[in-house]
Amino acid sequence: MIKACVIGWPISHSRSPLIHGYWLKQHGIDGSYTRQPVEPANLTSFLGSLAAEGYAGCNVTIPHKENAFRLVTPADDTTARLGAVNTVFLRNGKAHGTNTDGEGFINSLLQSAPGVSLANRRAVVLGAGGASLAIVNALLERGASEVAVANRTIEKADLLRTRFGPRVVPVAWEKVADQLSDCSLLVNTTSLGMKGQPDLDLDLSRLASDAVVTDIVYVPLRTKLLRDAALRGNTVVEGLGMLLHQAVRGFSLWFGVTPRVTPELHDLVARDIDPGYRQ
Ligand code: ATR
Repeated sequence: MIKACVIGWPISHSRSPLIHGYWLKQHGIDGSYTRQPVEPANLTSFLGSLAAEGYAGCNVTIPHKENAFRLVTPADDTTARLGAVNTVFLRNGKAHGTNTDGEGFINSLLQSAPGVSLANRRAVVLGAGGASLAIVNALLERGASEVAVANRTIEKADLLRTRFGPRVVPVAWEKVADQLSDCSLLVNTTSLGMKGQPDLDLDLSRLASDAVVTDIVYVPLRTKLLRDAALRGNTVVEGLGMLLHQAVRGFSLWFGVTPRVTPELHDLVARDIDPGYRQ
């Protein structure tokens, strides 16, 4: 039997077991994927004993993504650039780490908004935390001409420019509505709009009607930002897609099959988040 898990602290709300469990069953694989609560003080020993415990690897979530990066071998340049891993796998008994957040974001976007233009276009990203880092990097890798990053703490947006160069343009949080007139993509990476947090209240009146709006928040499935954008006729992409797509490569690395993000999987996880969910 092949074993994998997700580690975090706390970890009880993770939907990853539902996603990987669906794929294990769909492909008839003799495997397991469990939640493992790992306190920060135990991260080094947990990752050091993956092989001895019989794991093929694990997902890594809050608060371990940066610390895990320091404990494994980065598997690719993108991961080395980000300094954070969300997926760990063993090769020749040694722990390697990669980051699938960027491809999860892009593949979700391409699946739900196939007409979206990224190359040579401007994007506006709200937030400058860990998720923003992976998304800004992915947009730059896709050839965005500019990524405007608006953050409450402007210094963190400045750091993204230092890290990624002049295509990143820091924007004061209060000025973000002025930035919307010529962007093809608006992304929320802040926690605003998440269940238990205040809504993101943004004036979208300057946003072009063909701009795509997406949120990484997936509880609720459709945030106020996405409801507002959909009401104006913009194409919206819900955050759940990123969660599903970021899981694909880990499954493939551990279990040897590249799974698909199907409507059935989407609806299964959507119903877990919102029991009243209807397609
Ligand atoms: P993640 O890894 O999910 O990106 P994070 O690194 O804690 O999480 O980042 C959270 C983001 O949400 C940050 O950009 C944060 O802004 P600050 O850098 O100013 O803290 C943003 N955020 C959280 N609460 C916010 C609020 N009430 N108003 C505006 N931005 C907020």
